[in-house]
This record gives sequence, structure tokens and C-alpha cells, in this order.
Amino acid sequence: LSEQQAPQYLWIGCSDSRVPANEIIGLEPGDLLVHRNIANICPHTDFNCLSVVEFAVRMLKVRHIIVCGHYGCGGVHAAMEDHQLGLVDNWLRNIRDVHAKHKGELELIADPKARQNRLVELNVLQQVQNVCHTTIVQEAWTQGHNLIVHGWVYNLESGRLHDLNCCISGSDQLEDIYRIQIFPS
Ligand code: CO
Repeated sequence: LSEQQAPQYLWIGCSDSRVPANEIIGLEPGDLLVHRNIANICPHTDFNCLSVVEFAVRMLKVRHIIVCGHYGCGGVHAAMEDHQLGLVDNWLRNIRDVHAKHKGELELIADPKARQNRLVELNVLQQVQNVCHTTIVQEAWTQGHNLIVHGWVYNLESGRLHDLNCCISGSDQLEDIYRIQIFPS
């Protein structure tokens, strides 16, 4: 391992200390490239996350990208409140946008905890889309790179991973407006 790494998976997860990537899925050092931030988001303007995605896809040629949220996420919870916290409010704006997009569905959920957990899922689904909308992932697909993007949610109470069944493996699964015609370089 000291010579090189060849992981097959990229994990985009929450910074929360209770959701360590390798331990959750039982992979050893060298098996998983990890990027974590508050509330596991991949905004199209975040060059930190995009750089990791680019490195994972172009250089390491990972086969799977996993966006993994977790129920009870403090970041998602904070994005549903109106208190000012600091810089992080600007970061969490991304989740407020997801909330606004699905306001109708979320308002029908009476239980606050259930509503928050649904937003955790909707956020993961949105971030899976965001990863797929990048030129990095679409270029990989154009070049015939076998790459699948997954959305999961971890349940801290049960220790189980919940697959949201939103696997995306090609541009044809994206809305037209986000498809980018990649020309061979
Ligand atoms: Co969290």
C-alpha cells in the first residue's frame, strides 16, 4: 500500500464523527477514497469536492461513487431551522434549496423527525444528481468508463445502510438540460 492506491469506490459522506466511511462498510485502507463535508453535499461550485471527484474518476478510475447521508444529520436539521449559526449557513443554503424544491412533499409529513429524515434522503438524491451533472462524470461515461453513482443513507440506530435505489450509470438517465455533449479531446 505504501507504493500506490487503487480504490474502486469514492465515498462522499457527512463529516459527523459517528459516520466513518471505512468502518461503516467494512473496507480496509486502500479500498475507499473518501470525501466528507457537513451534510454530504456536492455543489457544482465546490472545487474541493469536484477535485476529489476528478481525481477519483480520472486518475484512480473508481467504478462506484457513493453519496451517503445519515438519518439524524445535524447539518440537515440546522438547514430546517431559522437560527443563524455562522459561515455554515451559506453552506447549508444548498439544503434549503432541496427543501424548497420538495416543499409540497415535506409539508405533508407531520412528524418533525420523519420530515427531517425525508429531507436527508432528498438531499442524498439531489447530491447524486449533482455528481452526475459534472463534466467529470459525463466525460467518463462518454469515454466508456463503467461508472455507477449510488445514493445511500446510514441509520445510526440500527447500524444499517439504506439504499435509495437511485443508481445512475449513464447520461441518458439525466434530465436533458443537464446533459453535456463531450467532444473527444
Ligand atoms: Co451529518
